[in-house]
Amino acid sequence: MLNISRITIDSLSHDCITDNKNPVISFTLESDEMNVELTKAIVKINDWEIETNNQLYIRYEGKELSPFKEYEVEVNAYDNKGNYAFAKTSFRTGRLDLGWKGQWITDGSYQLNDKDSPIPMVFKKEFRVDKKVESATLLSTALGIYELELNHTKIGEDYFAPGFTSYDHQIQYQTYDLTSTLKEKNTLIVTVGGGWAVGSFTYKRKNKVSADRQAFLCEIYVSYEDGSNEVIVSDTSWMVSEEGPHRFGDWYDGEVYDSTIQLDKINWKSASITQPRKKPRIMAQYGLPVRVQEVKLPISSFLAKSGEMIYDFGQNFSGVIRAHIKGQNNQKITFRHAEVLYQDELFVESLRTAKAMAEYICHDGDQSYSPKLTSMGFRYVGVSGINSENIELEALVLHSDFEEIGSFKCSNEMINQLQSNIRWGGKSNFLDIPTDCPQRDEREGWTGDLSVFASTACFNFDLSRFLDKWLLDMKSEQSKGGGIPMVIPRGGDSWPIMATSCWGDSCILVPWAEYLARGDMGLLRRQYPVMKKFMKAVEFWASLFSIRRDQRHIWKYPFHFGDWCAPDETIKEWLSKDKWVATAYWANSCYLMSEIARILDQKEDVKYFTQLRETVNKAFINVFTDSKGNLQREFQTAYVLPLHFNMINEDQRKVMAKNLVKLIEKNNGHLATGFTGTPYILFALSDNGYLDEAYKLLLKDTCPSWLYEVKAGGTTIWERWDALKEDGTINTKSLQAKDSDKKEKNDGGMVSFNHYANGAVGDWLYKRVVGIEPLSGGYKTFKIAPKIGGGLTFAEGSIKTRFGKITSRWDLVDQSTLNLMVEIPVNTTSYLELPNGDKHTLGSGKYHFTCKLD
Ligand code: BGC
Repeated sequence: MLNISRITIDSLSHDCITDNKNPVISFTLESDEMNVELTKAIVKINDWEIETNNQLYIRYEGKELSPFKEYEVEVNAYDNKGNYAFAKTSFRTGRLDLGWKGQWITDGSYQLNDKDSPIPMVFKKEFRVDKKVESATLLSTALGIYELELNHTKIGEDYFAPGFTSYDHQIQYQTYDLTSTLKEKNTLIVTVGGGWAVGSFTYKRKNKVSADRQAFLCEIYVSYEDGSNEVIVSDTSWMVSEEGPHRFGDWYDGEVYDSTIQLDKINWKSASITQPRKKPRIMAQYGLPVRVQEVKLPISSFLAKSGEMIYDFGQNFSGVIRAHIKGQNNQKITFRHAEVLYQDELFVESLRTAKAMAEYICHDGDQSYSPKLTSMGFRYVGVSGINSENIELEALVLHSDFEEIGSFKCSNEMINQLQSNIRWGGKSNFLDIPTDCPQRDEREGWTGDLSVFASTACFNFDLSRFLDKWLLDMKSEQSKGGGIPMVIPRGGDSWPIMATSCWGDSCILVPWAEYLARGDMGLLRRQYPVMKKFMKAVEFWASLFSIRRDQRHIWKYPFHFGDWCAPDETIKEWLSKDKWVATAYWANSCYLMSEIARILDQKEDVKYFTQLRETVNKAFINVFTDSKGNLQREFQTAYVLPLHFNMINEDQRKVMAKNLVKLIEKNNGHLATGFTGTPYILFALSDNGYLDEAYKLLLKDTCPSWLYEVKAGGTTIWERWDALKEDGTINTKSLQAKDSDKKEKNDGGMVSFNHYANGAVGDWLYKRVVGIEPLSGGYKTFKIAPKIGGGLTFAEGSIKTRFGKITSRWDLVDQSTLNLMVEIPVNTTSYLELPNGDKHTLGSGKYHFTCKLD
C-alpha cells in the first residue's frame, strides 16, 4: 500500500499562512513494499495542476493568488508497483501585496539614552463588536518585540515576535486568530519591549539600531455572521504609556516586572504616528516562531552562603524561569541566572556585562511570573527575596519551533552525552537566529560559527525555514563589493563588511548543508548570486597578496579569524594562521561552487570554479609545502584542511595524514585545532587510513577533547575546551585579560559554556560511525558506510528526511561478526558499503545484513 504521510507547504505541515507568490509543496510517501519509486504525481491547487515525478519543493506556478484566501492542495501519487495514494491539505495566503491601512504607532515623545534599553511601551485599544462574529484575525508587527493580550488572555504562543530580521530590508508580521477571544467590549493590550530593533545589543551595547523608539503596526479583520466586515487598525485612537508593569526588558540584563501596577490606574496618552527609517518589506512570518519547547523542573536546590536559594535545572539551555509565588504586596524577588557554579555560588563573570537577572514585585496572594521580554542562557537560578516554601520554580526551554529529525546513540554513554550536548548547543543557539552563545553580552548571528556547525545541525533539526530567513538577511546585508557581514543580521555590529574566510564562506557552506539535507534547489538558486559575488571578492583580495605569480592565489587579505579558539593559544596566534586556513577554505568553496553550478546547470561556472580550485590547490601546495606533503609551518589545522578538502594528490595525502598523526601524538594525543579545523579533524584521519586514530581522538577524555567536557559534567558544548579546568576551577584567565594585553596574551575574554562550533563533530557521528551521508539534495541518493571502531558494540542513527526515515543500526555480535539493519525511504536509493568491502545498491525498504570483519 502507498500512503502520503505528510504534505508541507513552504516547509510547514500545518497552519501555513504565506505571502509567497509561488508556494512550494513537498510530500512524503510510505509503503509496506520494497523498492518503491514514485512514477508520477499530480499536484493540484485550485484549477492549477502539475504532473511531476518530483516530491520536493514543487513550485506553484498557477494564477496569481489572492490575499486572505484558503487554498486546497491535493496530491495524487502513483508508484512503480501499481499503487495509488491521495492526500490533501490547505494553506492560507496572507496580505500578499495589499497595502497596510494600519499605521505605525509609537510614543513620539519618548526619549532613550544611548546604550540603554527602553522602558517597554504599552499600547491600548478598546473597541466593541456589536454583532455576531464569524471570524476575527489580527495581523501585527513591531519595531521591538511584542506581546498581545486581549481581554486578559495572551494571544498566540510566540515569544519575541516579530523576530530578528534585517529590519531595514524586511520585517515579518504575525497572524493571530481572535475569534474565540473577542467579546462585546474588548481591550487589547500590546507590550513592546526594545528587543533587537531598539534595545541595547552587541557587547558594545548599541541601541536604537533600527528605530529611535518602539513602534507597533496592526490590523484586525472582523467578519460578522450577517456577511458584513470591519477592520480595526492601529492609529492615533490607540493609547500609549511607559508606566505599565514591565518596567524594563533587555536581552542581556533581563527584566523587571511590577505586578502592583494596574493598567487602569496609569497615565495614558494618544499614540503618535511614525515610520520605519527605511522602507522594509513587511511579510507574513516566513521564519519559525520562538516558542516554549519543554518545561523543566529543578533536579536539586540548596541555600548558598550568600543567602540565595540556588536551583539546578540539570541542563544548560536558553529560556526563562516560571515562578508560582505566594507573595505579599511590594515584595521584591530576584532571579539570577548562571551556566555554572563556582564554590557553590553562581558564577557570572563569564556573562561579562550581562546581568541576566529578573526582578518581580509581588502583589498579595498567589501569582505566577515568567519573563516575556528577555531570555537567558542558564542551568542554575539563584532566587532571593522569598522563602523557598512560598515559591515553586520551573523553567521554560525556548527556541525556534523547528522539528528534531535526527537521532544518534551508541554503546558508549559518554558519546551519547556528547550527542546530547551537541543537540542542546543547537537548541540553545537557534533562538530566532543562529547565535554564537545564548548567555553573555553577545548572542549575535556570528556567521563562522554556523559555517562549521550547519552540517551537524541539519542532521539533527529541520532548519529549512529558520535558515531561509537568516539567508535572506544575508542577501540583504551583503556589501556591494561582495563582503559578508561577520554577524547577520548586523543589528548594531560594527565590524566592517568584508570577504573573510569561514565566516564569509557561510554564504556557501550554510545553504549547501541545508540543500543536502532538504533538497531545496530554490534556496541554491536564490543564494547563487550572493555566493558568486562573494567569490569574486575573494579573488580580488587574494590577488593582492603578492606579485609572485604562484602567490596570487593565497588568500591573506583583508582579514581572517584564522585558527580561531585553538587551545592554549592567544588571539594573536589564532590570527597568525590566517592564510593557510583562508586559502584552504577558498579551495573548498571553489569545489562547492562547481557542484552548485552543476546542479543549477551553469556550465560556464562549473568550468570556471573547477579550474580556479585547481589553481588555488596548487598555490597552497607551492607556497606552504615542500610539494611532498610537508608543511613549512606545521599545525594541525593546516594538515586537516587540505586532507579533508581534497586539495592534494595521493602521495601528498599519505605524507600529510602521517604528519597530522605525528602532530597529534606530539600533543599527547590531543587535538590542537580551532573552530576552522576541529569539524574536519576526524574525517582527515578516518578517510586517510587512520580510523583507529580518529576513534582515539573522539574518545580522548583529557583536556582538550570533546569527552573531557562530558567528564567535567558539561551538558552543552563549550567555547573553550578548558572552560572548566581539570582541578574543577573555572578558566578565568581570559576573563581577566586586560586591554593592554590585547595583542600578546589576550585570548578574548571568552568562556562561554554554550557555543556550538566545536559540536560540529556531530557530523562525524552521523557520517562515519553510522555512515549516513547525503549524495544528492534531500537524500534522494545517499551513502550508508558505517565505520566500526572505538570499542563500540552498537551504534544507531536515524534521520527523518523529506522522503521518509533513514536508519542505520549496527551491532557487533562478536569480535568478528557484525549485524546491520538499514531503512531506506520510498523513492530514494542508498549505496551501502559494508565494513568488509561488500557493496549494495538498495531501493526503499528495511534490510538486514551480516558481515564478517577482519
Ligand atoms: C564569538 C564567536 C565568534 C567570534 C569571532 C566571538 O566573540 O563568540 O563565536 O565567531 O567572536 O570573532
